[in-house]
Amino acid sequence: MSTTATLATLSDSDHMADPNWWRQAAVYQIYPRSFYDSNGDGLGDIKGITAKVPYLKALGIDAVWLSPFYPSALADGGYDVDDYRNVDPKLGTLADFDEMAAALHEAGIKLIADIVPNHSSNRHEWFKEALASPKGSAARDRYIFRDGLGENGELPPADWDSVFGGPAWERITEPDGTPGQWYMHIFAKEQPDFNWSNREVRDDFLKTLRFWSDRGVDGFRIDVAHALTKDLAEPLLSKAQLPREGENAMGAHPYWDRDEVHEIYAEWRQLFNEYNPPRTAVAEAWVHAERRARYASPEGLGQAFNFDLLQADFDATQFRSVITKNLAEAKASGASSTWVFSNHDVVRHATRYGLPQGGRKDGDGKDGDGKDRGQDGKDWLLAGGPKDELDAELGLRRARAASLLMFALPGSAYLYQGEELGLQEVAEIPDVDRQDPAFFRNAGVEVGRDGCRVPLPWSPEGSSFGFGDGEPHLPQPEWFANFAVEVQEGADDSTLEFYRKALELRGRLQAAEELLWHANASAEVLHFSRPGGWHSVTNFGTEPVELPEGTVVVSSGPLDGGKLPSDTTAWLLTDN
Ligand code: NOJ
Repeated sequence: MSTTATLATLSDSDHMADPNWWRQAAVYQIYPRSFYDSNGDGLGDIKGITAKVPYLKALGIDAVWLSPFYPSALADGGYDVDDYRNVDPKLGTLADFDEMAAALHEAGIKLIADIVPNHSSNRHEWFKEALASPKGSAARDRYIFRDGLGENGELPPADWDSVFGGPAWERITEPDGTPGQWYMHIFAKEQPDFNWSNREVRDDFLKTLRFWSDRGVDGFRIDVAHALTKDLAEPLLSKAQLPREGENAMGAHPYWDRDEVHEIYAEWRQLFNEYNPPRTAVAEAWVHAERRARYASPEGLGQAFNFDLLQADFDATQFRSVITKNLAEAKASGASSTWVFSNHDVVRHATRYGLPQGGRKDGDGKDGDGKDRGQDGKDWLLAGGPKDELDAELGLRRARAASLLMFALPGSAYLYQGEELGLQEVAEIPDVDRQDPAFFRNAGVEVGRDGCRVPLPWSPEGSSFGFGDGEPHLPQPEWFANFAVEVQEGADDSTLEFYRKALELRGRLQAAEELLWHANASAEVLHFSRPGGWHSVTNFGTEPVELPEGTVVVSSGPLDGGKLPSDTTAWLLTDN
């Protein structure tokens, strides 16, 4: 059996110059405040990322995506930006940033920055100026201010809800001390929405994109890319009149997924294409699948996340339908597909798969009852699930199988820090330590997203398991010791070594963006191949199954003689 038919890995310099580097990249998401703390203040920082470039290199990823590292009061984990063209002083300086970018590039790793264009923080200079300026002023026009309803303007302009719970409008006190206008905030009240009809706002973001592109940022992840443009013609609709919130509004919603948003991205694309290689972008857009293509088109951002696999159960039928549909969509838009199981907004997949399944039967962005999920995905920001129902061992086994399957798919694989360690969601965070606005605005209903943002364990010992010398900004549980990088490094069956092996092979086997399904005796087995004789087989069923012909090069768990056990994926190589 020949394994030499495999493609050679692109050298680092080829990868850096390749305009198509993003199409099938393995992108590792770093949540900077929880990655590595170089100065002992309990917060991860930019120098911490630089220090861990060898770790990232050894992991075998092509790019890192940094969640926001800008100055922020952390009302929403950094997605409340005070200054778009700076580094949070608690995380470092612009010089530290440059050093990090250079170290990543030196290691052949691309750098993607998170851009948050729908809203700033309420500490942004512009918002402070808006509050200090009179109604109707140019400063107010950069945001969305409206008079309130009711005799004295005491009621919000509309009864809309914020994604994080509570109203989407907040009343201000005018400079003269009287109760005044209201401003719109789709997210927390510390995140006022920009008015994208205002040219100054548009120009300022072009300036920001250029600022980071000039500093060597290779691509951008666009936060809530589908929310920027709004039709807020009076009278504002009431909640009950809004087109059904979410994915099926098809352009008719006053603030989600309006067609005009693409004018903005066409302008951004021109800017991206001035660079060599062109800067890339990926949209975070919770839109109906049919409408995703425009965000992902070459005239637009170029790529868009699909969260369909993330929302599917660990189920062969759901996985196959999601994969088939998304590959076809990506092809039609000229983009490559994206795949993701974990990020900073959702319960880690090692935990999701260890909880009772159900409620997501059709794998097409709808719940089992056919109900659309909200635009924001809030309704699956699970509470971590009832802890006593968690089967962590099963969850991890399935997570490893799912990740190995994902790594074999055509397109980009987005990983989230800690999944390479097999980390579970941290459920045991005391309320006093919680940070997520989703927790505070939904008291007693949602625990929010802190459980996937707990600082990484690098060592089995020390006050913060090697994260830094200080007290970590979110508490780590004792069991983190078992998942520490140092414990897993060199340990054959560890999740870390499994990820390294799989990603290294992925780099070498990478092939044209094509996938061929192979029939199998069981409907619970998914078997597909890529050009060059690269096969991936996953057993979603409960009984071991025969493996097809070929040489096994990696598996997500131990094989059972010549058989593939349940909840396991294996890659095989054949001559064709
Ligand atoms: C999506 C981000 O992923 C999430 O973390 C954030 O809370 C919202 N957008 C608002 O910026």
